[in-house]
Amino acid sequence: MSQKILLTGGAGYIGSHTYLALVSAGFTPVILDDFSNCSPAVLDRLQRLTGHPALCERGSVTDSGLVQRLLEQHRIGAVIHFAGFKAVGESVAQPLKYYANNIGGMVGLLQAMEASACRTLVFSSSATVYGDPASVPITEKFPVSHTNPYGHTKLVCEDMLAALRVAGPLWRMGVLRYFNPVGAHPSGLIGEDPAGLPNNLMPYVTQVAVGKRPYLNVYGRDYNTPDGTGVRDYIHVQDLAQGHVAAVQALLGKGESFTVNLGTGRGHSVLELVSAFERASGKTVPYQFAPRRAGDVAQCYADPSLAEDLLGWRATHSLADMCTDAWRWQQGNPEGYGQALAGDR
Ligand code: UD1
Repeated sequence: MSQKILLTGGAGYIGSHTYLALVSAGFTPVILDDFSNCSPAVLDRLQRLTGHPALCERGSVTDSGLVQRLLEQHRIGAVIHFAGFKAVGESVAQPLKYYANNIGGMVGLLQAMEASACRTLVFSSSATVYGDPASVPITEKFPVSHTNPYGHTKLVCEDMLAALRVAGPLWRMGVLRYFNPVGAHPSGLIGEDPAGLPNNLMPYVTQVAVGKRPYLNVYGRDYNTPDGTGVRDYIHVQDLAQGHVAAVQALLGKGESFTVNLGTGRGHSVLELVSAFERASGKTVPYQFAPRRAGDVAQCYADPSLAEDLLGWRATHSLADMCTDAWRWQQGNPEGYGQALAGDR
C-alpha cells in the first residue's frame, strides 16, 4: 500500500502542486486545509488531473486533536507543513494573526505528532530568514535574522524544530528555505490565485497582461544591481514541488534531518522577468517606476548545491518556462478558481 503523506495547507499554491508531484511519485497525499486563503475548487482540479477524488479534511492545523486523529486514522508516514500566512505587510499590521496561526499551528502540529507515531516532518521555510544578506549566492551557513513578524514566525518555527531534535532522536526533519516560487502546473488547471491585490511580482505581472490591472509598479530603480531593479531567485513551482518529494524520500530513507535552500542559483531582475514574460506571452506589460518597497533587499539568490548533494534535487525549469506556465494558468483562469467561490474564502 502506498505511503500516506499529510499536507497541511495542501490546497494552497505550493501544496496543490506538491500534491500532484507526490501522486506521480507513488505516494497518497491527504490534505488538511481551512481554505482561509485558497479555494475548494482546487480539489476538483486535482481530481481531474489524477483521476481520483482528493482525500481532504476541512479544518485548522491549530486544532491539535483533529491533526492527531488524521495522523492515526490514515497511518500517516510523514507530514509536509505548508499551512501558514505569508504576506509581509499584513504581518506588520496584524502580528498576532501571524503568531497565532504560524507558531500556534506549528505547536499544535508537533504536539499531535508527538502524541502519535509520526516523527517525520518537512517544513516550508523561506529565504526571508536570511534578512538582508551580506553577499550572494546565499548558503545555508549565512546568519539568519528577521525584519517583520512573518519572517520572525519562520525563524521561531525553525528554532522549535531544532529544539525538538535535541530533545528526541526519533525526529526526522527537513527544513526547506524557498526562494521565489512562481509559475504553474503545465496543464494550466492549477496555479497561484492570490485574493485581492497581489503582493508578489509574478501574479501582478500576469494580472497586468490579462488586463485586470493597468500597469506594474517597479519598486526601486537605484539598487546596486546591473539594471537598478531588485534581483531574485525565481523558481518554478513544479521544481519546488519536486523538491518536497525528494525531501520526503530522503527523510523516509536515510532519515537524517537537514535544512536546505530551494532555489535555482540564478538571479533575475524585475525588468528581466518582465521582458521574459513579454516574450513568453506575446503581451506588453506596461510598467512605471515607483519608490523602493520598505523591507526589500537588492539581491537575493541561492547557492542550491546542498540540496543537490543531500537530496539529489536540482531545479530544471528556466525563467521562460516559469513565464509560459504562469501565463497559461492566468489566461485560462482570469478570475483564478472562480468568482462563484470567492465568498468561500
Ligand atoms: C516576498 C516577501 C518574502 C516572502 C515572499 C513570499 C517582502 C519584502 N518579501 O519576497 O518575505 O517570503 O514574498 O512569497 O514582501 N516587485 C515590484 N513590483 C511589485 C511586486 C514586486 O517591483 O508589484 C519587486 C520587488 O521589489 C522585488 C521583486 O519584485 O524586487 C520580487 O518581489 P516579490 O515577488 O514580492 O518577492 P520578495 O519580495 O522577494
